Amino acid sequence: MVGEAHVSMIPTTPKKVWSANVNGHAVQALAPSNAILLDVLRDEVGMLGVKRGCDLGTCGCCTVLVNGEPRLSCLCLAGQVEGDDITTVEGLAEGAHLAPIQTCFATHGGSQCGFCTPGFLMAAEALLDSNPEPSREEISCAIDGNLCRCTGYQQIIDSIEAAAEIKRGDAPAPTPASNPHPNPHPEGPDQPSMPPGHAR
Ligand code: FES
Ligand code: FES
Repeated sequence: MVGEAHVSMIPTTPKKVWSANVNGHAVQALAPSNAILLDVLRDEVGMLGVKRGCDLGTCGCCTVLVNGEPRLSCLCLAGQVEGDDITTVEGLAEGAHLAPIQTCFATHGGSQCGFCTPGFLMAAEALLDSNPEPSREEISCAIDGNLCRCTGYQQIIDSIEAAAEIKRGDAPAPTPASNPHPNPHPEGPDQPSMPPGHAR
C-alpha cells in the first residue's frame, strides 16, 4: 500500500563471506550462512562440473572431495567446510593433461552422456588415493553411492581398474590430452546417419 513499508513474509538469511581452498586456489564468496555447498560451488565459485542430480543425497552426481574425502555437496552446508580444501572435477587435470582417471573413463567407455561422470571421477580418485590396488568388489563399494543410467557400471569399474594400474606405474601413462585423437570418428563422418528411432 502506498506510504507503508513493505515487510517480507519470507525470512531471509543474512549473507556472509565464505572462504575455502578450491582446487588449490583461495576463494571467497558472499553466501547466506545456511547456503548449501553445491549452490556455492556452482553459483558463486563457478565450478559447474559439480552436477546437481537429485538434490537429495541419492545419486552422487554432486560428489566433491573435502580434505581428500568424498562428500555429497548437496547435503553439506558451505559453512561446515569453511576454510577446508575442496577438490572438484575441474581440479583433476593438470593444465591441458587429463588425469589418468579421466583418460581411462574416456578410453574404457566409463562415460556416455557424462552427467554422472564428475561424481564417479571424484569417488574413484578418493578410492585410488587411499587404496592403490583395489579389487573390483572394493571399487563397487566405493561407487555404490553413485548412480549411472547409461553405462551399466562394468565399464566404469574397468576404467577405475585401468587408472589404478597407471597410477601404480604398472601401465603406461595415457597419451597427453594435447595430442589429437588418432581416429575421432571411428565409423567415419561420411557414414550415412541412422534413421530416426534406430540410433544405437
Ligand atoms: S545431487 Fe547430491 S546426491 Fe544427487
Ligand atoms: S554416463 Fe549417463 S548417467 Fe552416467
